[in-house]
Amino acid sequence: VVRQVGAVGRHLALVGFMGAGKTSIGREVARLTERPFVDLDEEIVARHGSITDLFRHGEAGFRRLEEEVAAEALAADEPSVVSLGGGAVMSKATRAQLRTRAFTVWVSVDLDVAWNRVRGKDRPLARDYESFSRLFHTRVPVYLEAADAVASGSTDHVLCEALAIKVGRGLFGEVADLVVAADGGRAVVVDERLVELALVPSGCGVHRVPSGETAKTVAVAERLWQELRIGRDGLVLAAGGGSTTDVVGFVAATYLRGVAWVAVPTTLVGQVDAGIGGKTGIDLPTGKNLVGAFHLPAKVVIDPDALATLPDRERRQGMSEVVKAGLLAGRPYWDLPEEEMVRSCAAFKAAVVLSDPYEHGRRAILNLGHTFAHALEAASGYTVTHGDAVALGLVAALRLSGQPTDVVEEVLHPRRIRADRERAWAALKRDKKATGGQIRLVLLRAPGEPVYGVEPPEADVRAALDELIAG
Ligand SMILES: NC(=O)c1ccc[n+]([C@@H]2O[C@H](COP(=O)([O-])OP(=O)(O)OC[C@H]3O[C@@H](n4cnc5c(N)ncnc54)[C@H](O)[C@@H]3O)[C@@H](O)[C@H]2O)c1
Repeated sequence: VVRQVGAVGRHLALVGFMGAGKTSIGREVARLTERPFVDLDEEIVARHGSITDLFRHGEAGFRRLEEEVAAEALAADEPSVVSLGGGAVMSKATRAQLRTRAFTVWVSVDLDVAWNRVRGKDRPLARDYESFSRLFHTRVPVYLEAADAVASGSTDHVLCEALAIKVGRGLFGEVADLVVAADGGRAVVVDERLVELALVPSGCGVHRVPSGETAKTVAVAERLWQELRIGRDGLVLAAGGGSTTDVVGFVAATYLRGVAWVAVPTTLVGQVDAGIGGKTGIDLPTGKNLVGAFHLPAKVVIDPDALATLPDRERRQGMSEVVKAGLLAGRPYWDLPEEEMVRSCAAFKAAVVLSDPYEHGRRAILNLGHTFAHALEAASGYTVTHGDAVALGLVAALRLSGQPTDVVEEVLHPRRIRADRERAWAALKRDKKATGGQIRLVLLRAPGEPVYGVEPPEADVRAALDELIAG
């Protein structure tokens, strides 16, 4: 089934009152999603001169130009980020176009914050507080009607909303309300560890899957296919770590040729990475994630409070992905308080997924350090955990990039592992076979500037790998 999720494959339109920050947020969102950016006011000024001058000839004329420019921007085929002027949504025609051509996020702002930002800036509709405030109250219901989602004025919030991701403390308890029961019914699947912890979304019958990676088997998928009693309009909700969301997402992708699903990740790995982006799958005896499908969750509900019961070892796995995301974004996510850290990492992944939902190119950057990690995991006979292997893989990727490794050392304390060097090299080269004979890596030109598909000399890769192995 093809279901539209957020702004995937369509324009992301930002609406809201003047002073909400639509232009600066829109520009940043466009940069992070590698989409073209159109600011309607800037476009009008470039073509027709200053807005103050245009208003001198009457607001109606300005609104006609605004409608024309909006229609043109929203008619473009390439998904872009479009910031609309505060009054653009008053046009019925523009609202109709937004409905069919875009995913629309209302960037909300407090009246007084907006006033303090725009007063004295020669804006024709911000001359005195009284009329500014009246205008604000007239427009709020229109934004509400036009928007598919609402975000506070931050880039991270907008990016999360653009991929239907909700982040907030206490959301776990409200999942049943957030996920309106579809006509075809709803099924809830949880990691059995969550049942033991009494961490189960209320309101419906529950299917259990084994805790951790052992859930990602054909046998578990088959049992779920047999147990589900939902129709094609139904919905499956998956609560657990990446193992649970991977297998349940895959079951949702295939059951009745695809039903909608909602991810409720409860591990740090799940909240910053695995629950986001629609890569679903199960393992085969010959390797991990060998069977799967792209199937974006209709919604991702992330409650950092659900991490309270997470053992330290599991939290460490997630921190490796946090550091990876921070290096890719060029932002020290690892220094942020937990909720912000989770939101920022989720937003960064959302941006990458929005730029390349089916991994034809740029989404590959998320593999930073992972080629080495997979080789180390295989060479250790899977005794080293994925997160610990990623920490080492990041060290290797940074060294090959000529970048300092201190952040990884300080935050993740990677320890060289005991493994057979030849076995590790053979495993890494097996990866290379899959990518057409060359070892292709993700490296960093600088923090925040990843490059993918780099082919360093084999000897350098081998040396970087060897350095990760003790003895
Ligand atoms: N689809 C993707 O894009 C993607 C990305 C990264 C990783 N993954 C996959 O995710 C899996 C790893 O995910 P993970 O690290 O979340 O592991 P996991 O799902 O195996 O969970 C790890 C452990 O934590 C327990 N747990 C879960 N929530 C808990 C909670 N709130 N409190 C206490 N314990 C809890 C689980 O029972 C399990 O024992 C791998 O299979 C990997 O391939 C997928």
